[in-house]
Amino acid sequence: MRIAVIGTGYLGTTHAACMAQIGHDVLGVDIDPGKVAKLQSGEVPFFEPGIDNVVRDNLASGRLRFTDSYVEAADFADVHFLTVGTPQSETGLGANLSFLNTAIDALSPHLDRPALIVGKSTVPVGTAERLARRARSVAPAGDNIEFAWNPEFLREGFAVHDTLHPDRIVVGVEHPYEMGAAKKLAELYSPLTTDDDIPFLVTSLATAELAKVAANAFLATKISFINAISEVCEATSADVTMLAGAIGADKRIGREFLEAGLGFGGGCLPKDLRAFRARADELGLADVVTFLQVVDNINMTQRRRVIEATREICGSLVGARVAVLGVAFKPNSDDIRDSPALDVAGQLQLQGAVVSVFDPKAMDNAQHLFPTLNYSLSTLDACKGADVVLILTGWDEFRKLKPEKLEAVTRSKRIIDARNCLDPPSWRAAGWNYRGIGRP
Ligand code: UGA
Repeated sequence: MRIAVIGTGYLGTTHAACMAQIGHDVLGVDIDPGKVAKLQSGEVPFFEPGIDNVVRDNLASGRLRFTDSYVEAADFADVHFLTVGTPQSETGLGANLSFLNTAIDALSPHLDRPALIVGKSTVPVGTAERLARRARSVAPAGDNIEFAWNPEFLREGFAVHDTLHPDRIVVGVEHPYEMGAAKKLAELYSPLTTDDDIPFLVTSLATAELAKVAANAFLATKISFINAISEVCEATSADVTMLAGAIGADKRIGREFLEAGLGFGGGCLPKDLRAFRARADELGLADVVTFLQVVDNINMTQRRRVIEATREICGSLVGARVAVLGVAFKPNSDDIRDSPALDVAGQLQLQGAVVSVFDPKAMDNAQHLFPTLNYSLSTLDACKGADVVLILTGWDEFRKLKPEKLEAVTRSKRIIDARNCLDPPSWRAAGWNYRGIGRP
């Protein structure tokens, strides 16, 4: 099929490259000519394991191209995916939908033959219906424009794998009983669904929009739940890691997303939770608003807990030398959007600490956003002369740290493992003051 993917950020680039990989002819569209030029030359402007090869292979095969022209996109494609960002609004909790509106307004006037528009961005329920009306009101093809919503569930760090091996495909359509758009998308995704038993769920537009928002809210809730329990564990000398194993063994609960620690961040969970809360508020659903607010509050409390633990262990933050290991919002990513790690590093510095940071991939992005921290060349460099070492992102490199190596460079043997990724007995046996989250 001939596909346009509009918005070549993280999601769009991955989707475009993977759709080419499964045999479609794909045109990636972006209004930033610099980004288009980079992608067209095979350079991916973000870190994501495996994506470079998929982009380069498909550029070479001729199935993948990039452009900044909506005219070209309308002329080329029969299916137009919308993959632009929906960040948190600058003035409130809701989602900023201006990029979606702009994309629809730029594309629609050029749609002069039947086409299918498929939204993938995460949006407040009700957005798709409004965008469909907006597109049809200006497109020369008018009612021959079909509309569908097909949320994306990929995780950063596993984007290529998750796109090529989805757990499920959800397709929201306007007329579930007519099946035109659903059939087209079933065919488009058939290389992904034929081998494995992948559910292909056809729903209404509203259900599809909500399915994504609810999935992220549930994941956020699971993390905040275990973080709330970690506080109870700390107050009672119980061990949250053992507890997570014990409850996670129940298939109804599941062990994944029960890692207690610094909490969730990134470009998705926090802003989706807040946009959901804003939408629930608009709908007058007070209990839902309160529920989502508590999940968010518990998450933000984790950052304060780590800052307080650092103050306590150092006596005072003023002048304390703090080594921060990890600034990315999670391992295997260079993404620092709403990163709990960078937030904590910044707050410690603002409260008087001398903060040296190291992250295997996110240094450039962090330096750009927060230039006043001390950026080190390596883990050991960051830990030189430290009064306390903080592990804030669970990179493998930090999981493998050995007490002997670290104590050769630090001033004191104190460590706060805010991602519970070290083995407490071996650090304590080596004479370290070790603190995790919710573990004795
Ligand atoms: C999340 C969802 O997992 C994806 O399904 C979804 O498609 C994506 O958002 C999106 O909306 O685009 P992602 O933001 O890549 O994916 O990151 P996650 O792996 O969900 O991690 C989110 C945060 O939760 C990270 O800061 C991570 O460190 C934290 N986390 C995760 C925990 O604190 N504890 C856990 O047990 C798991």
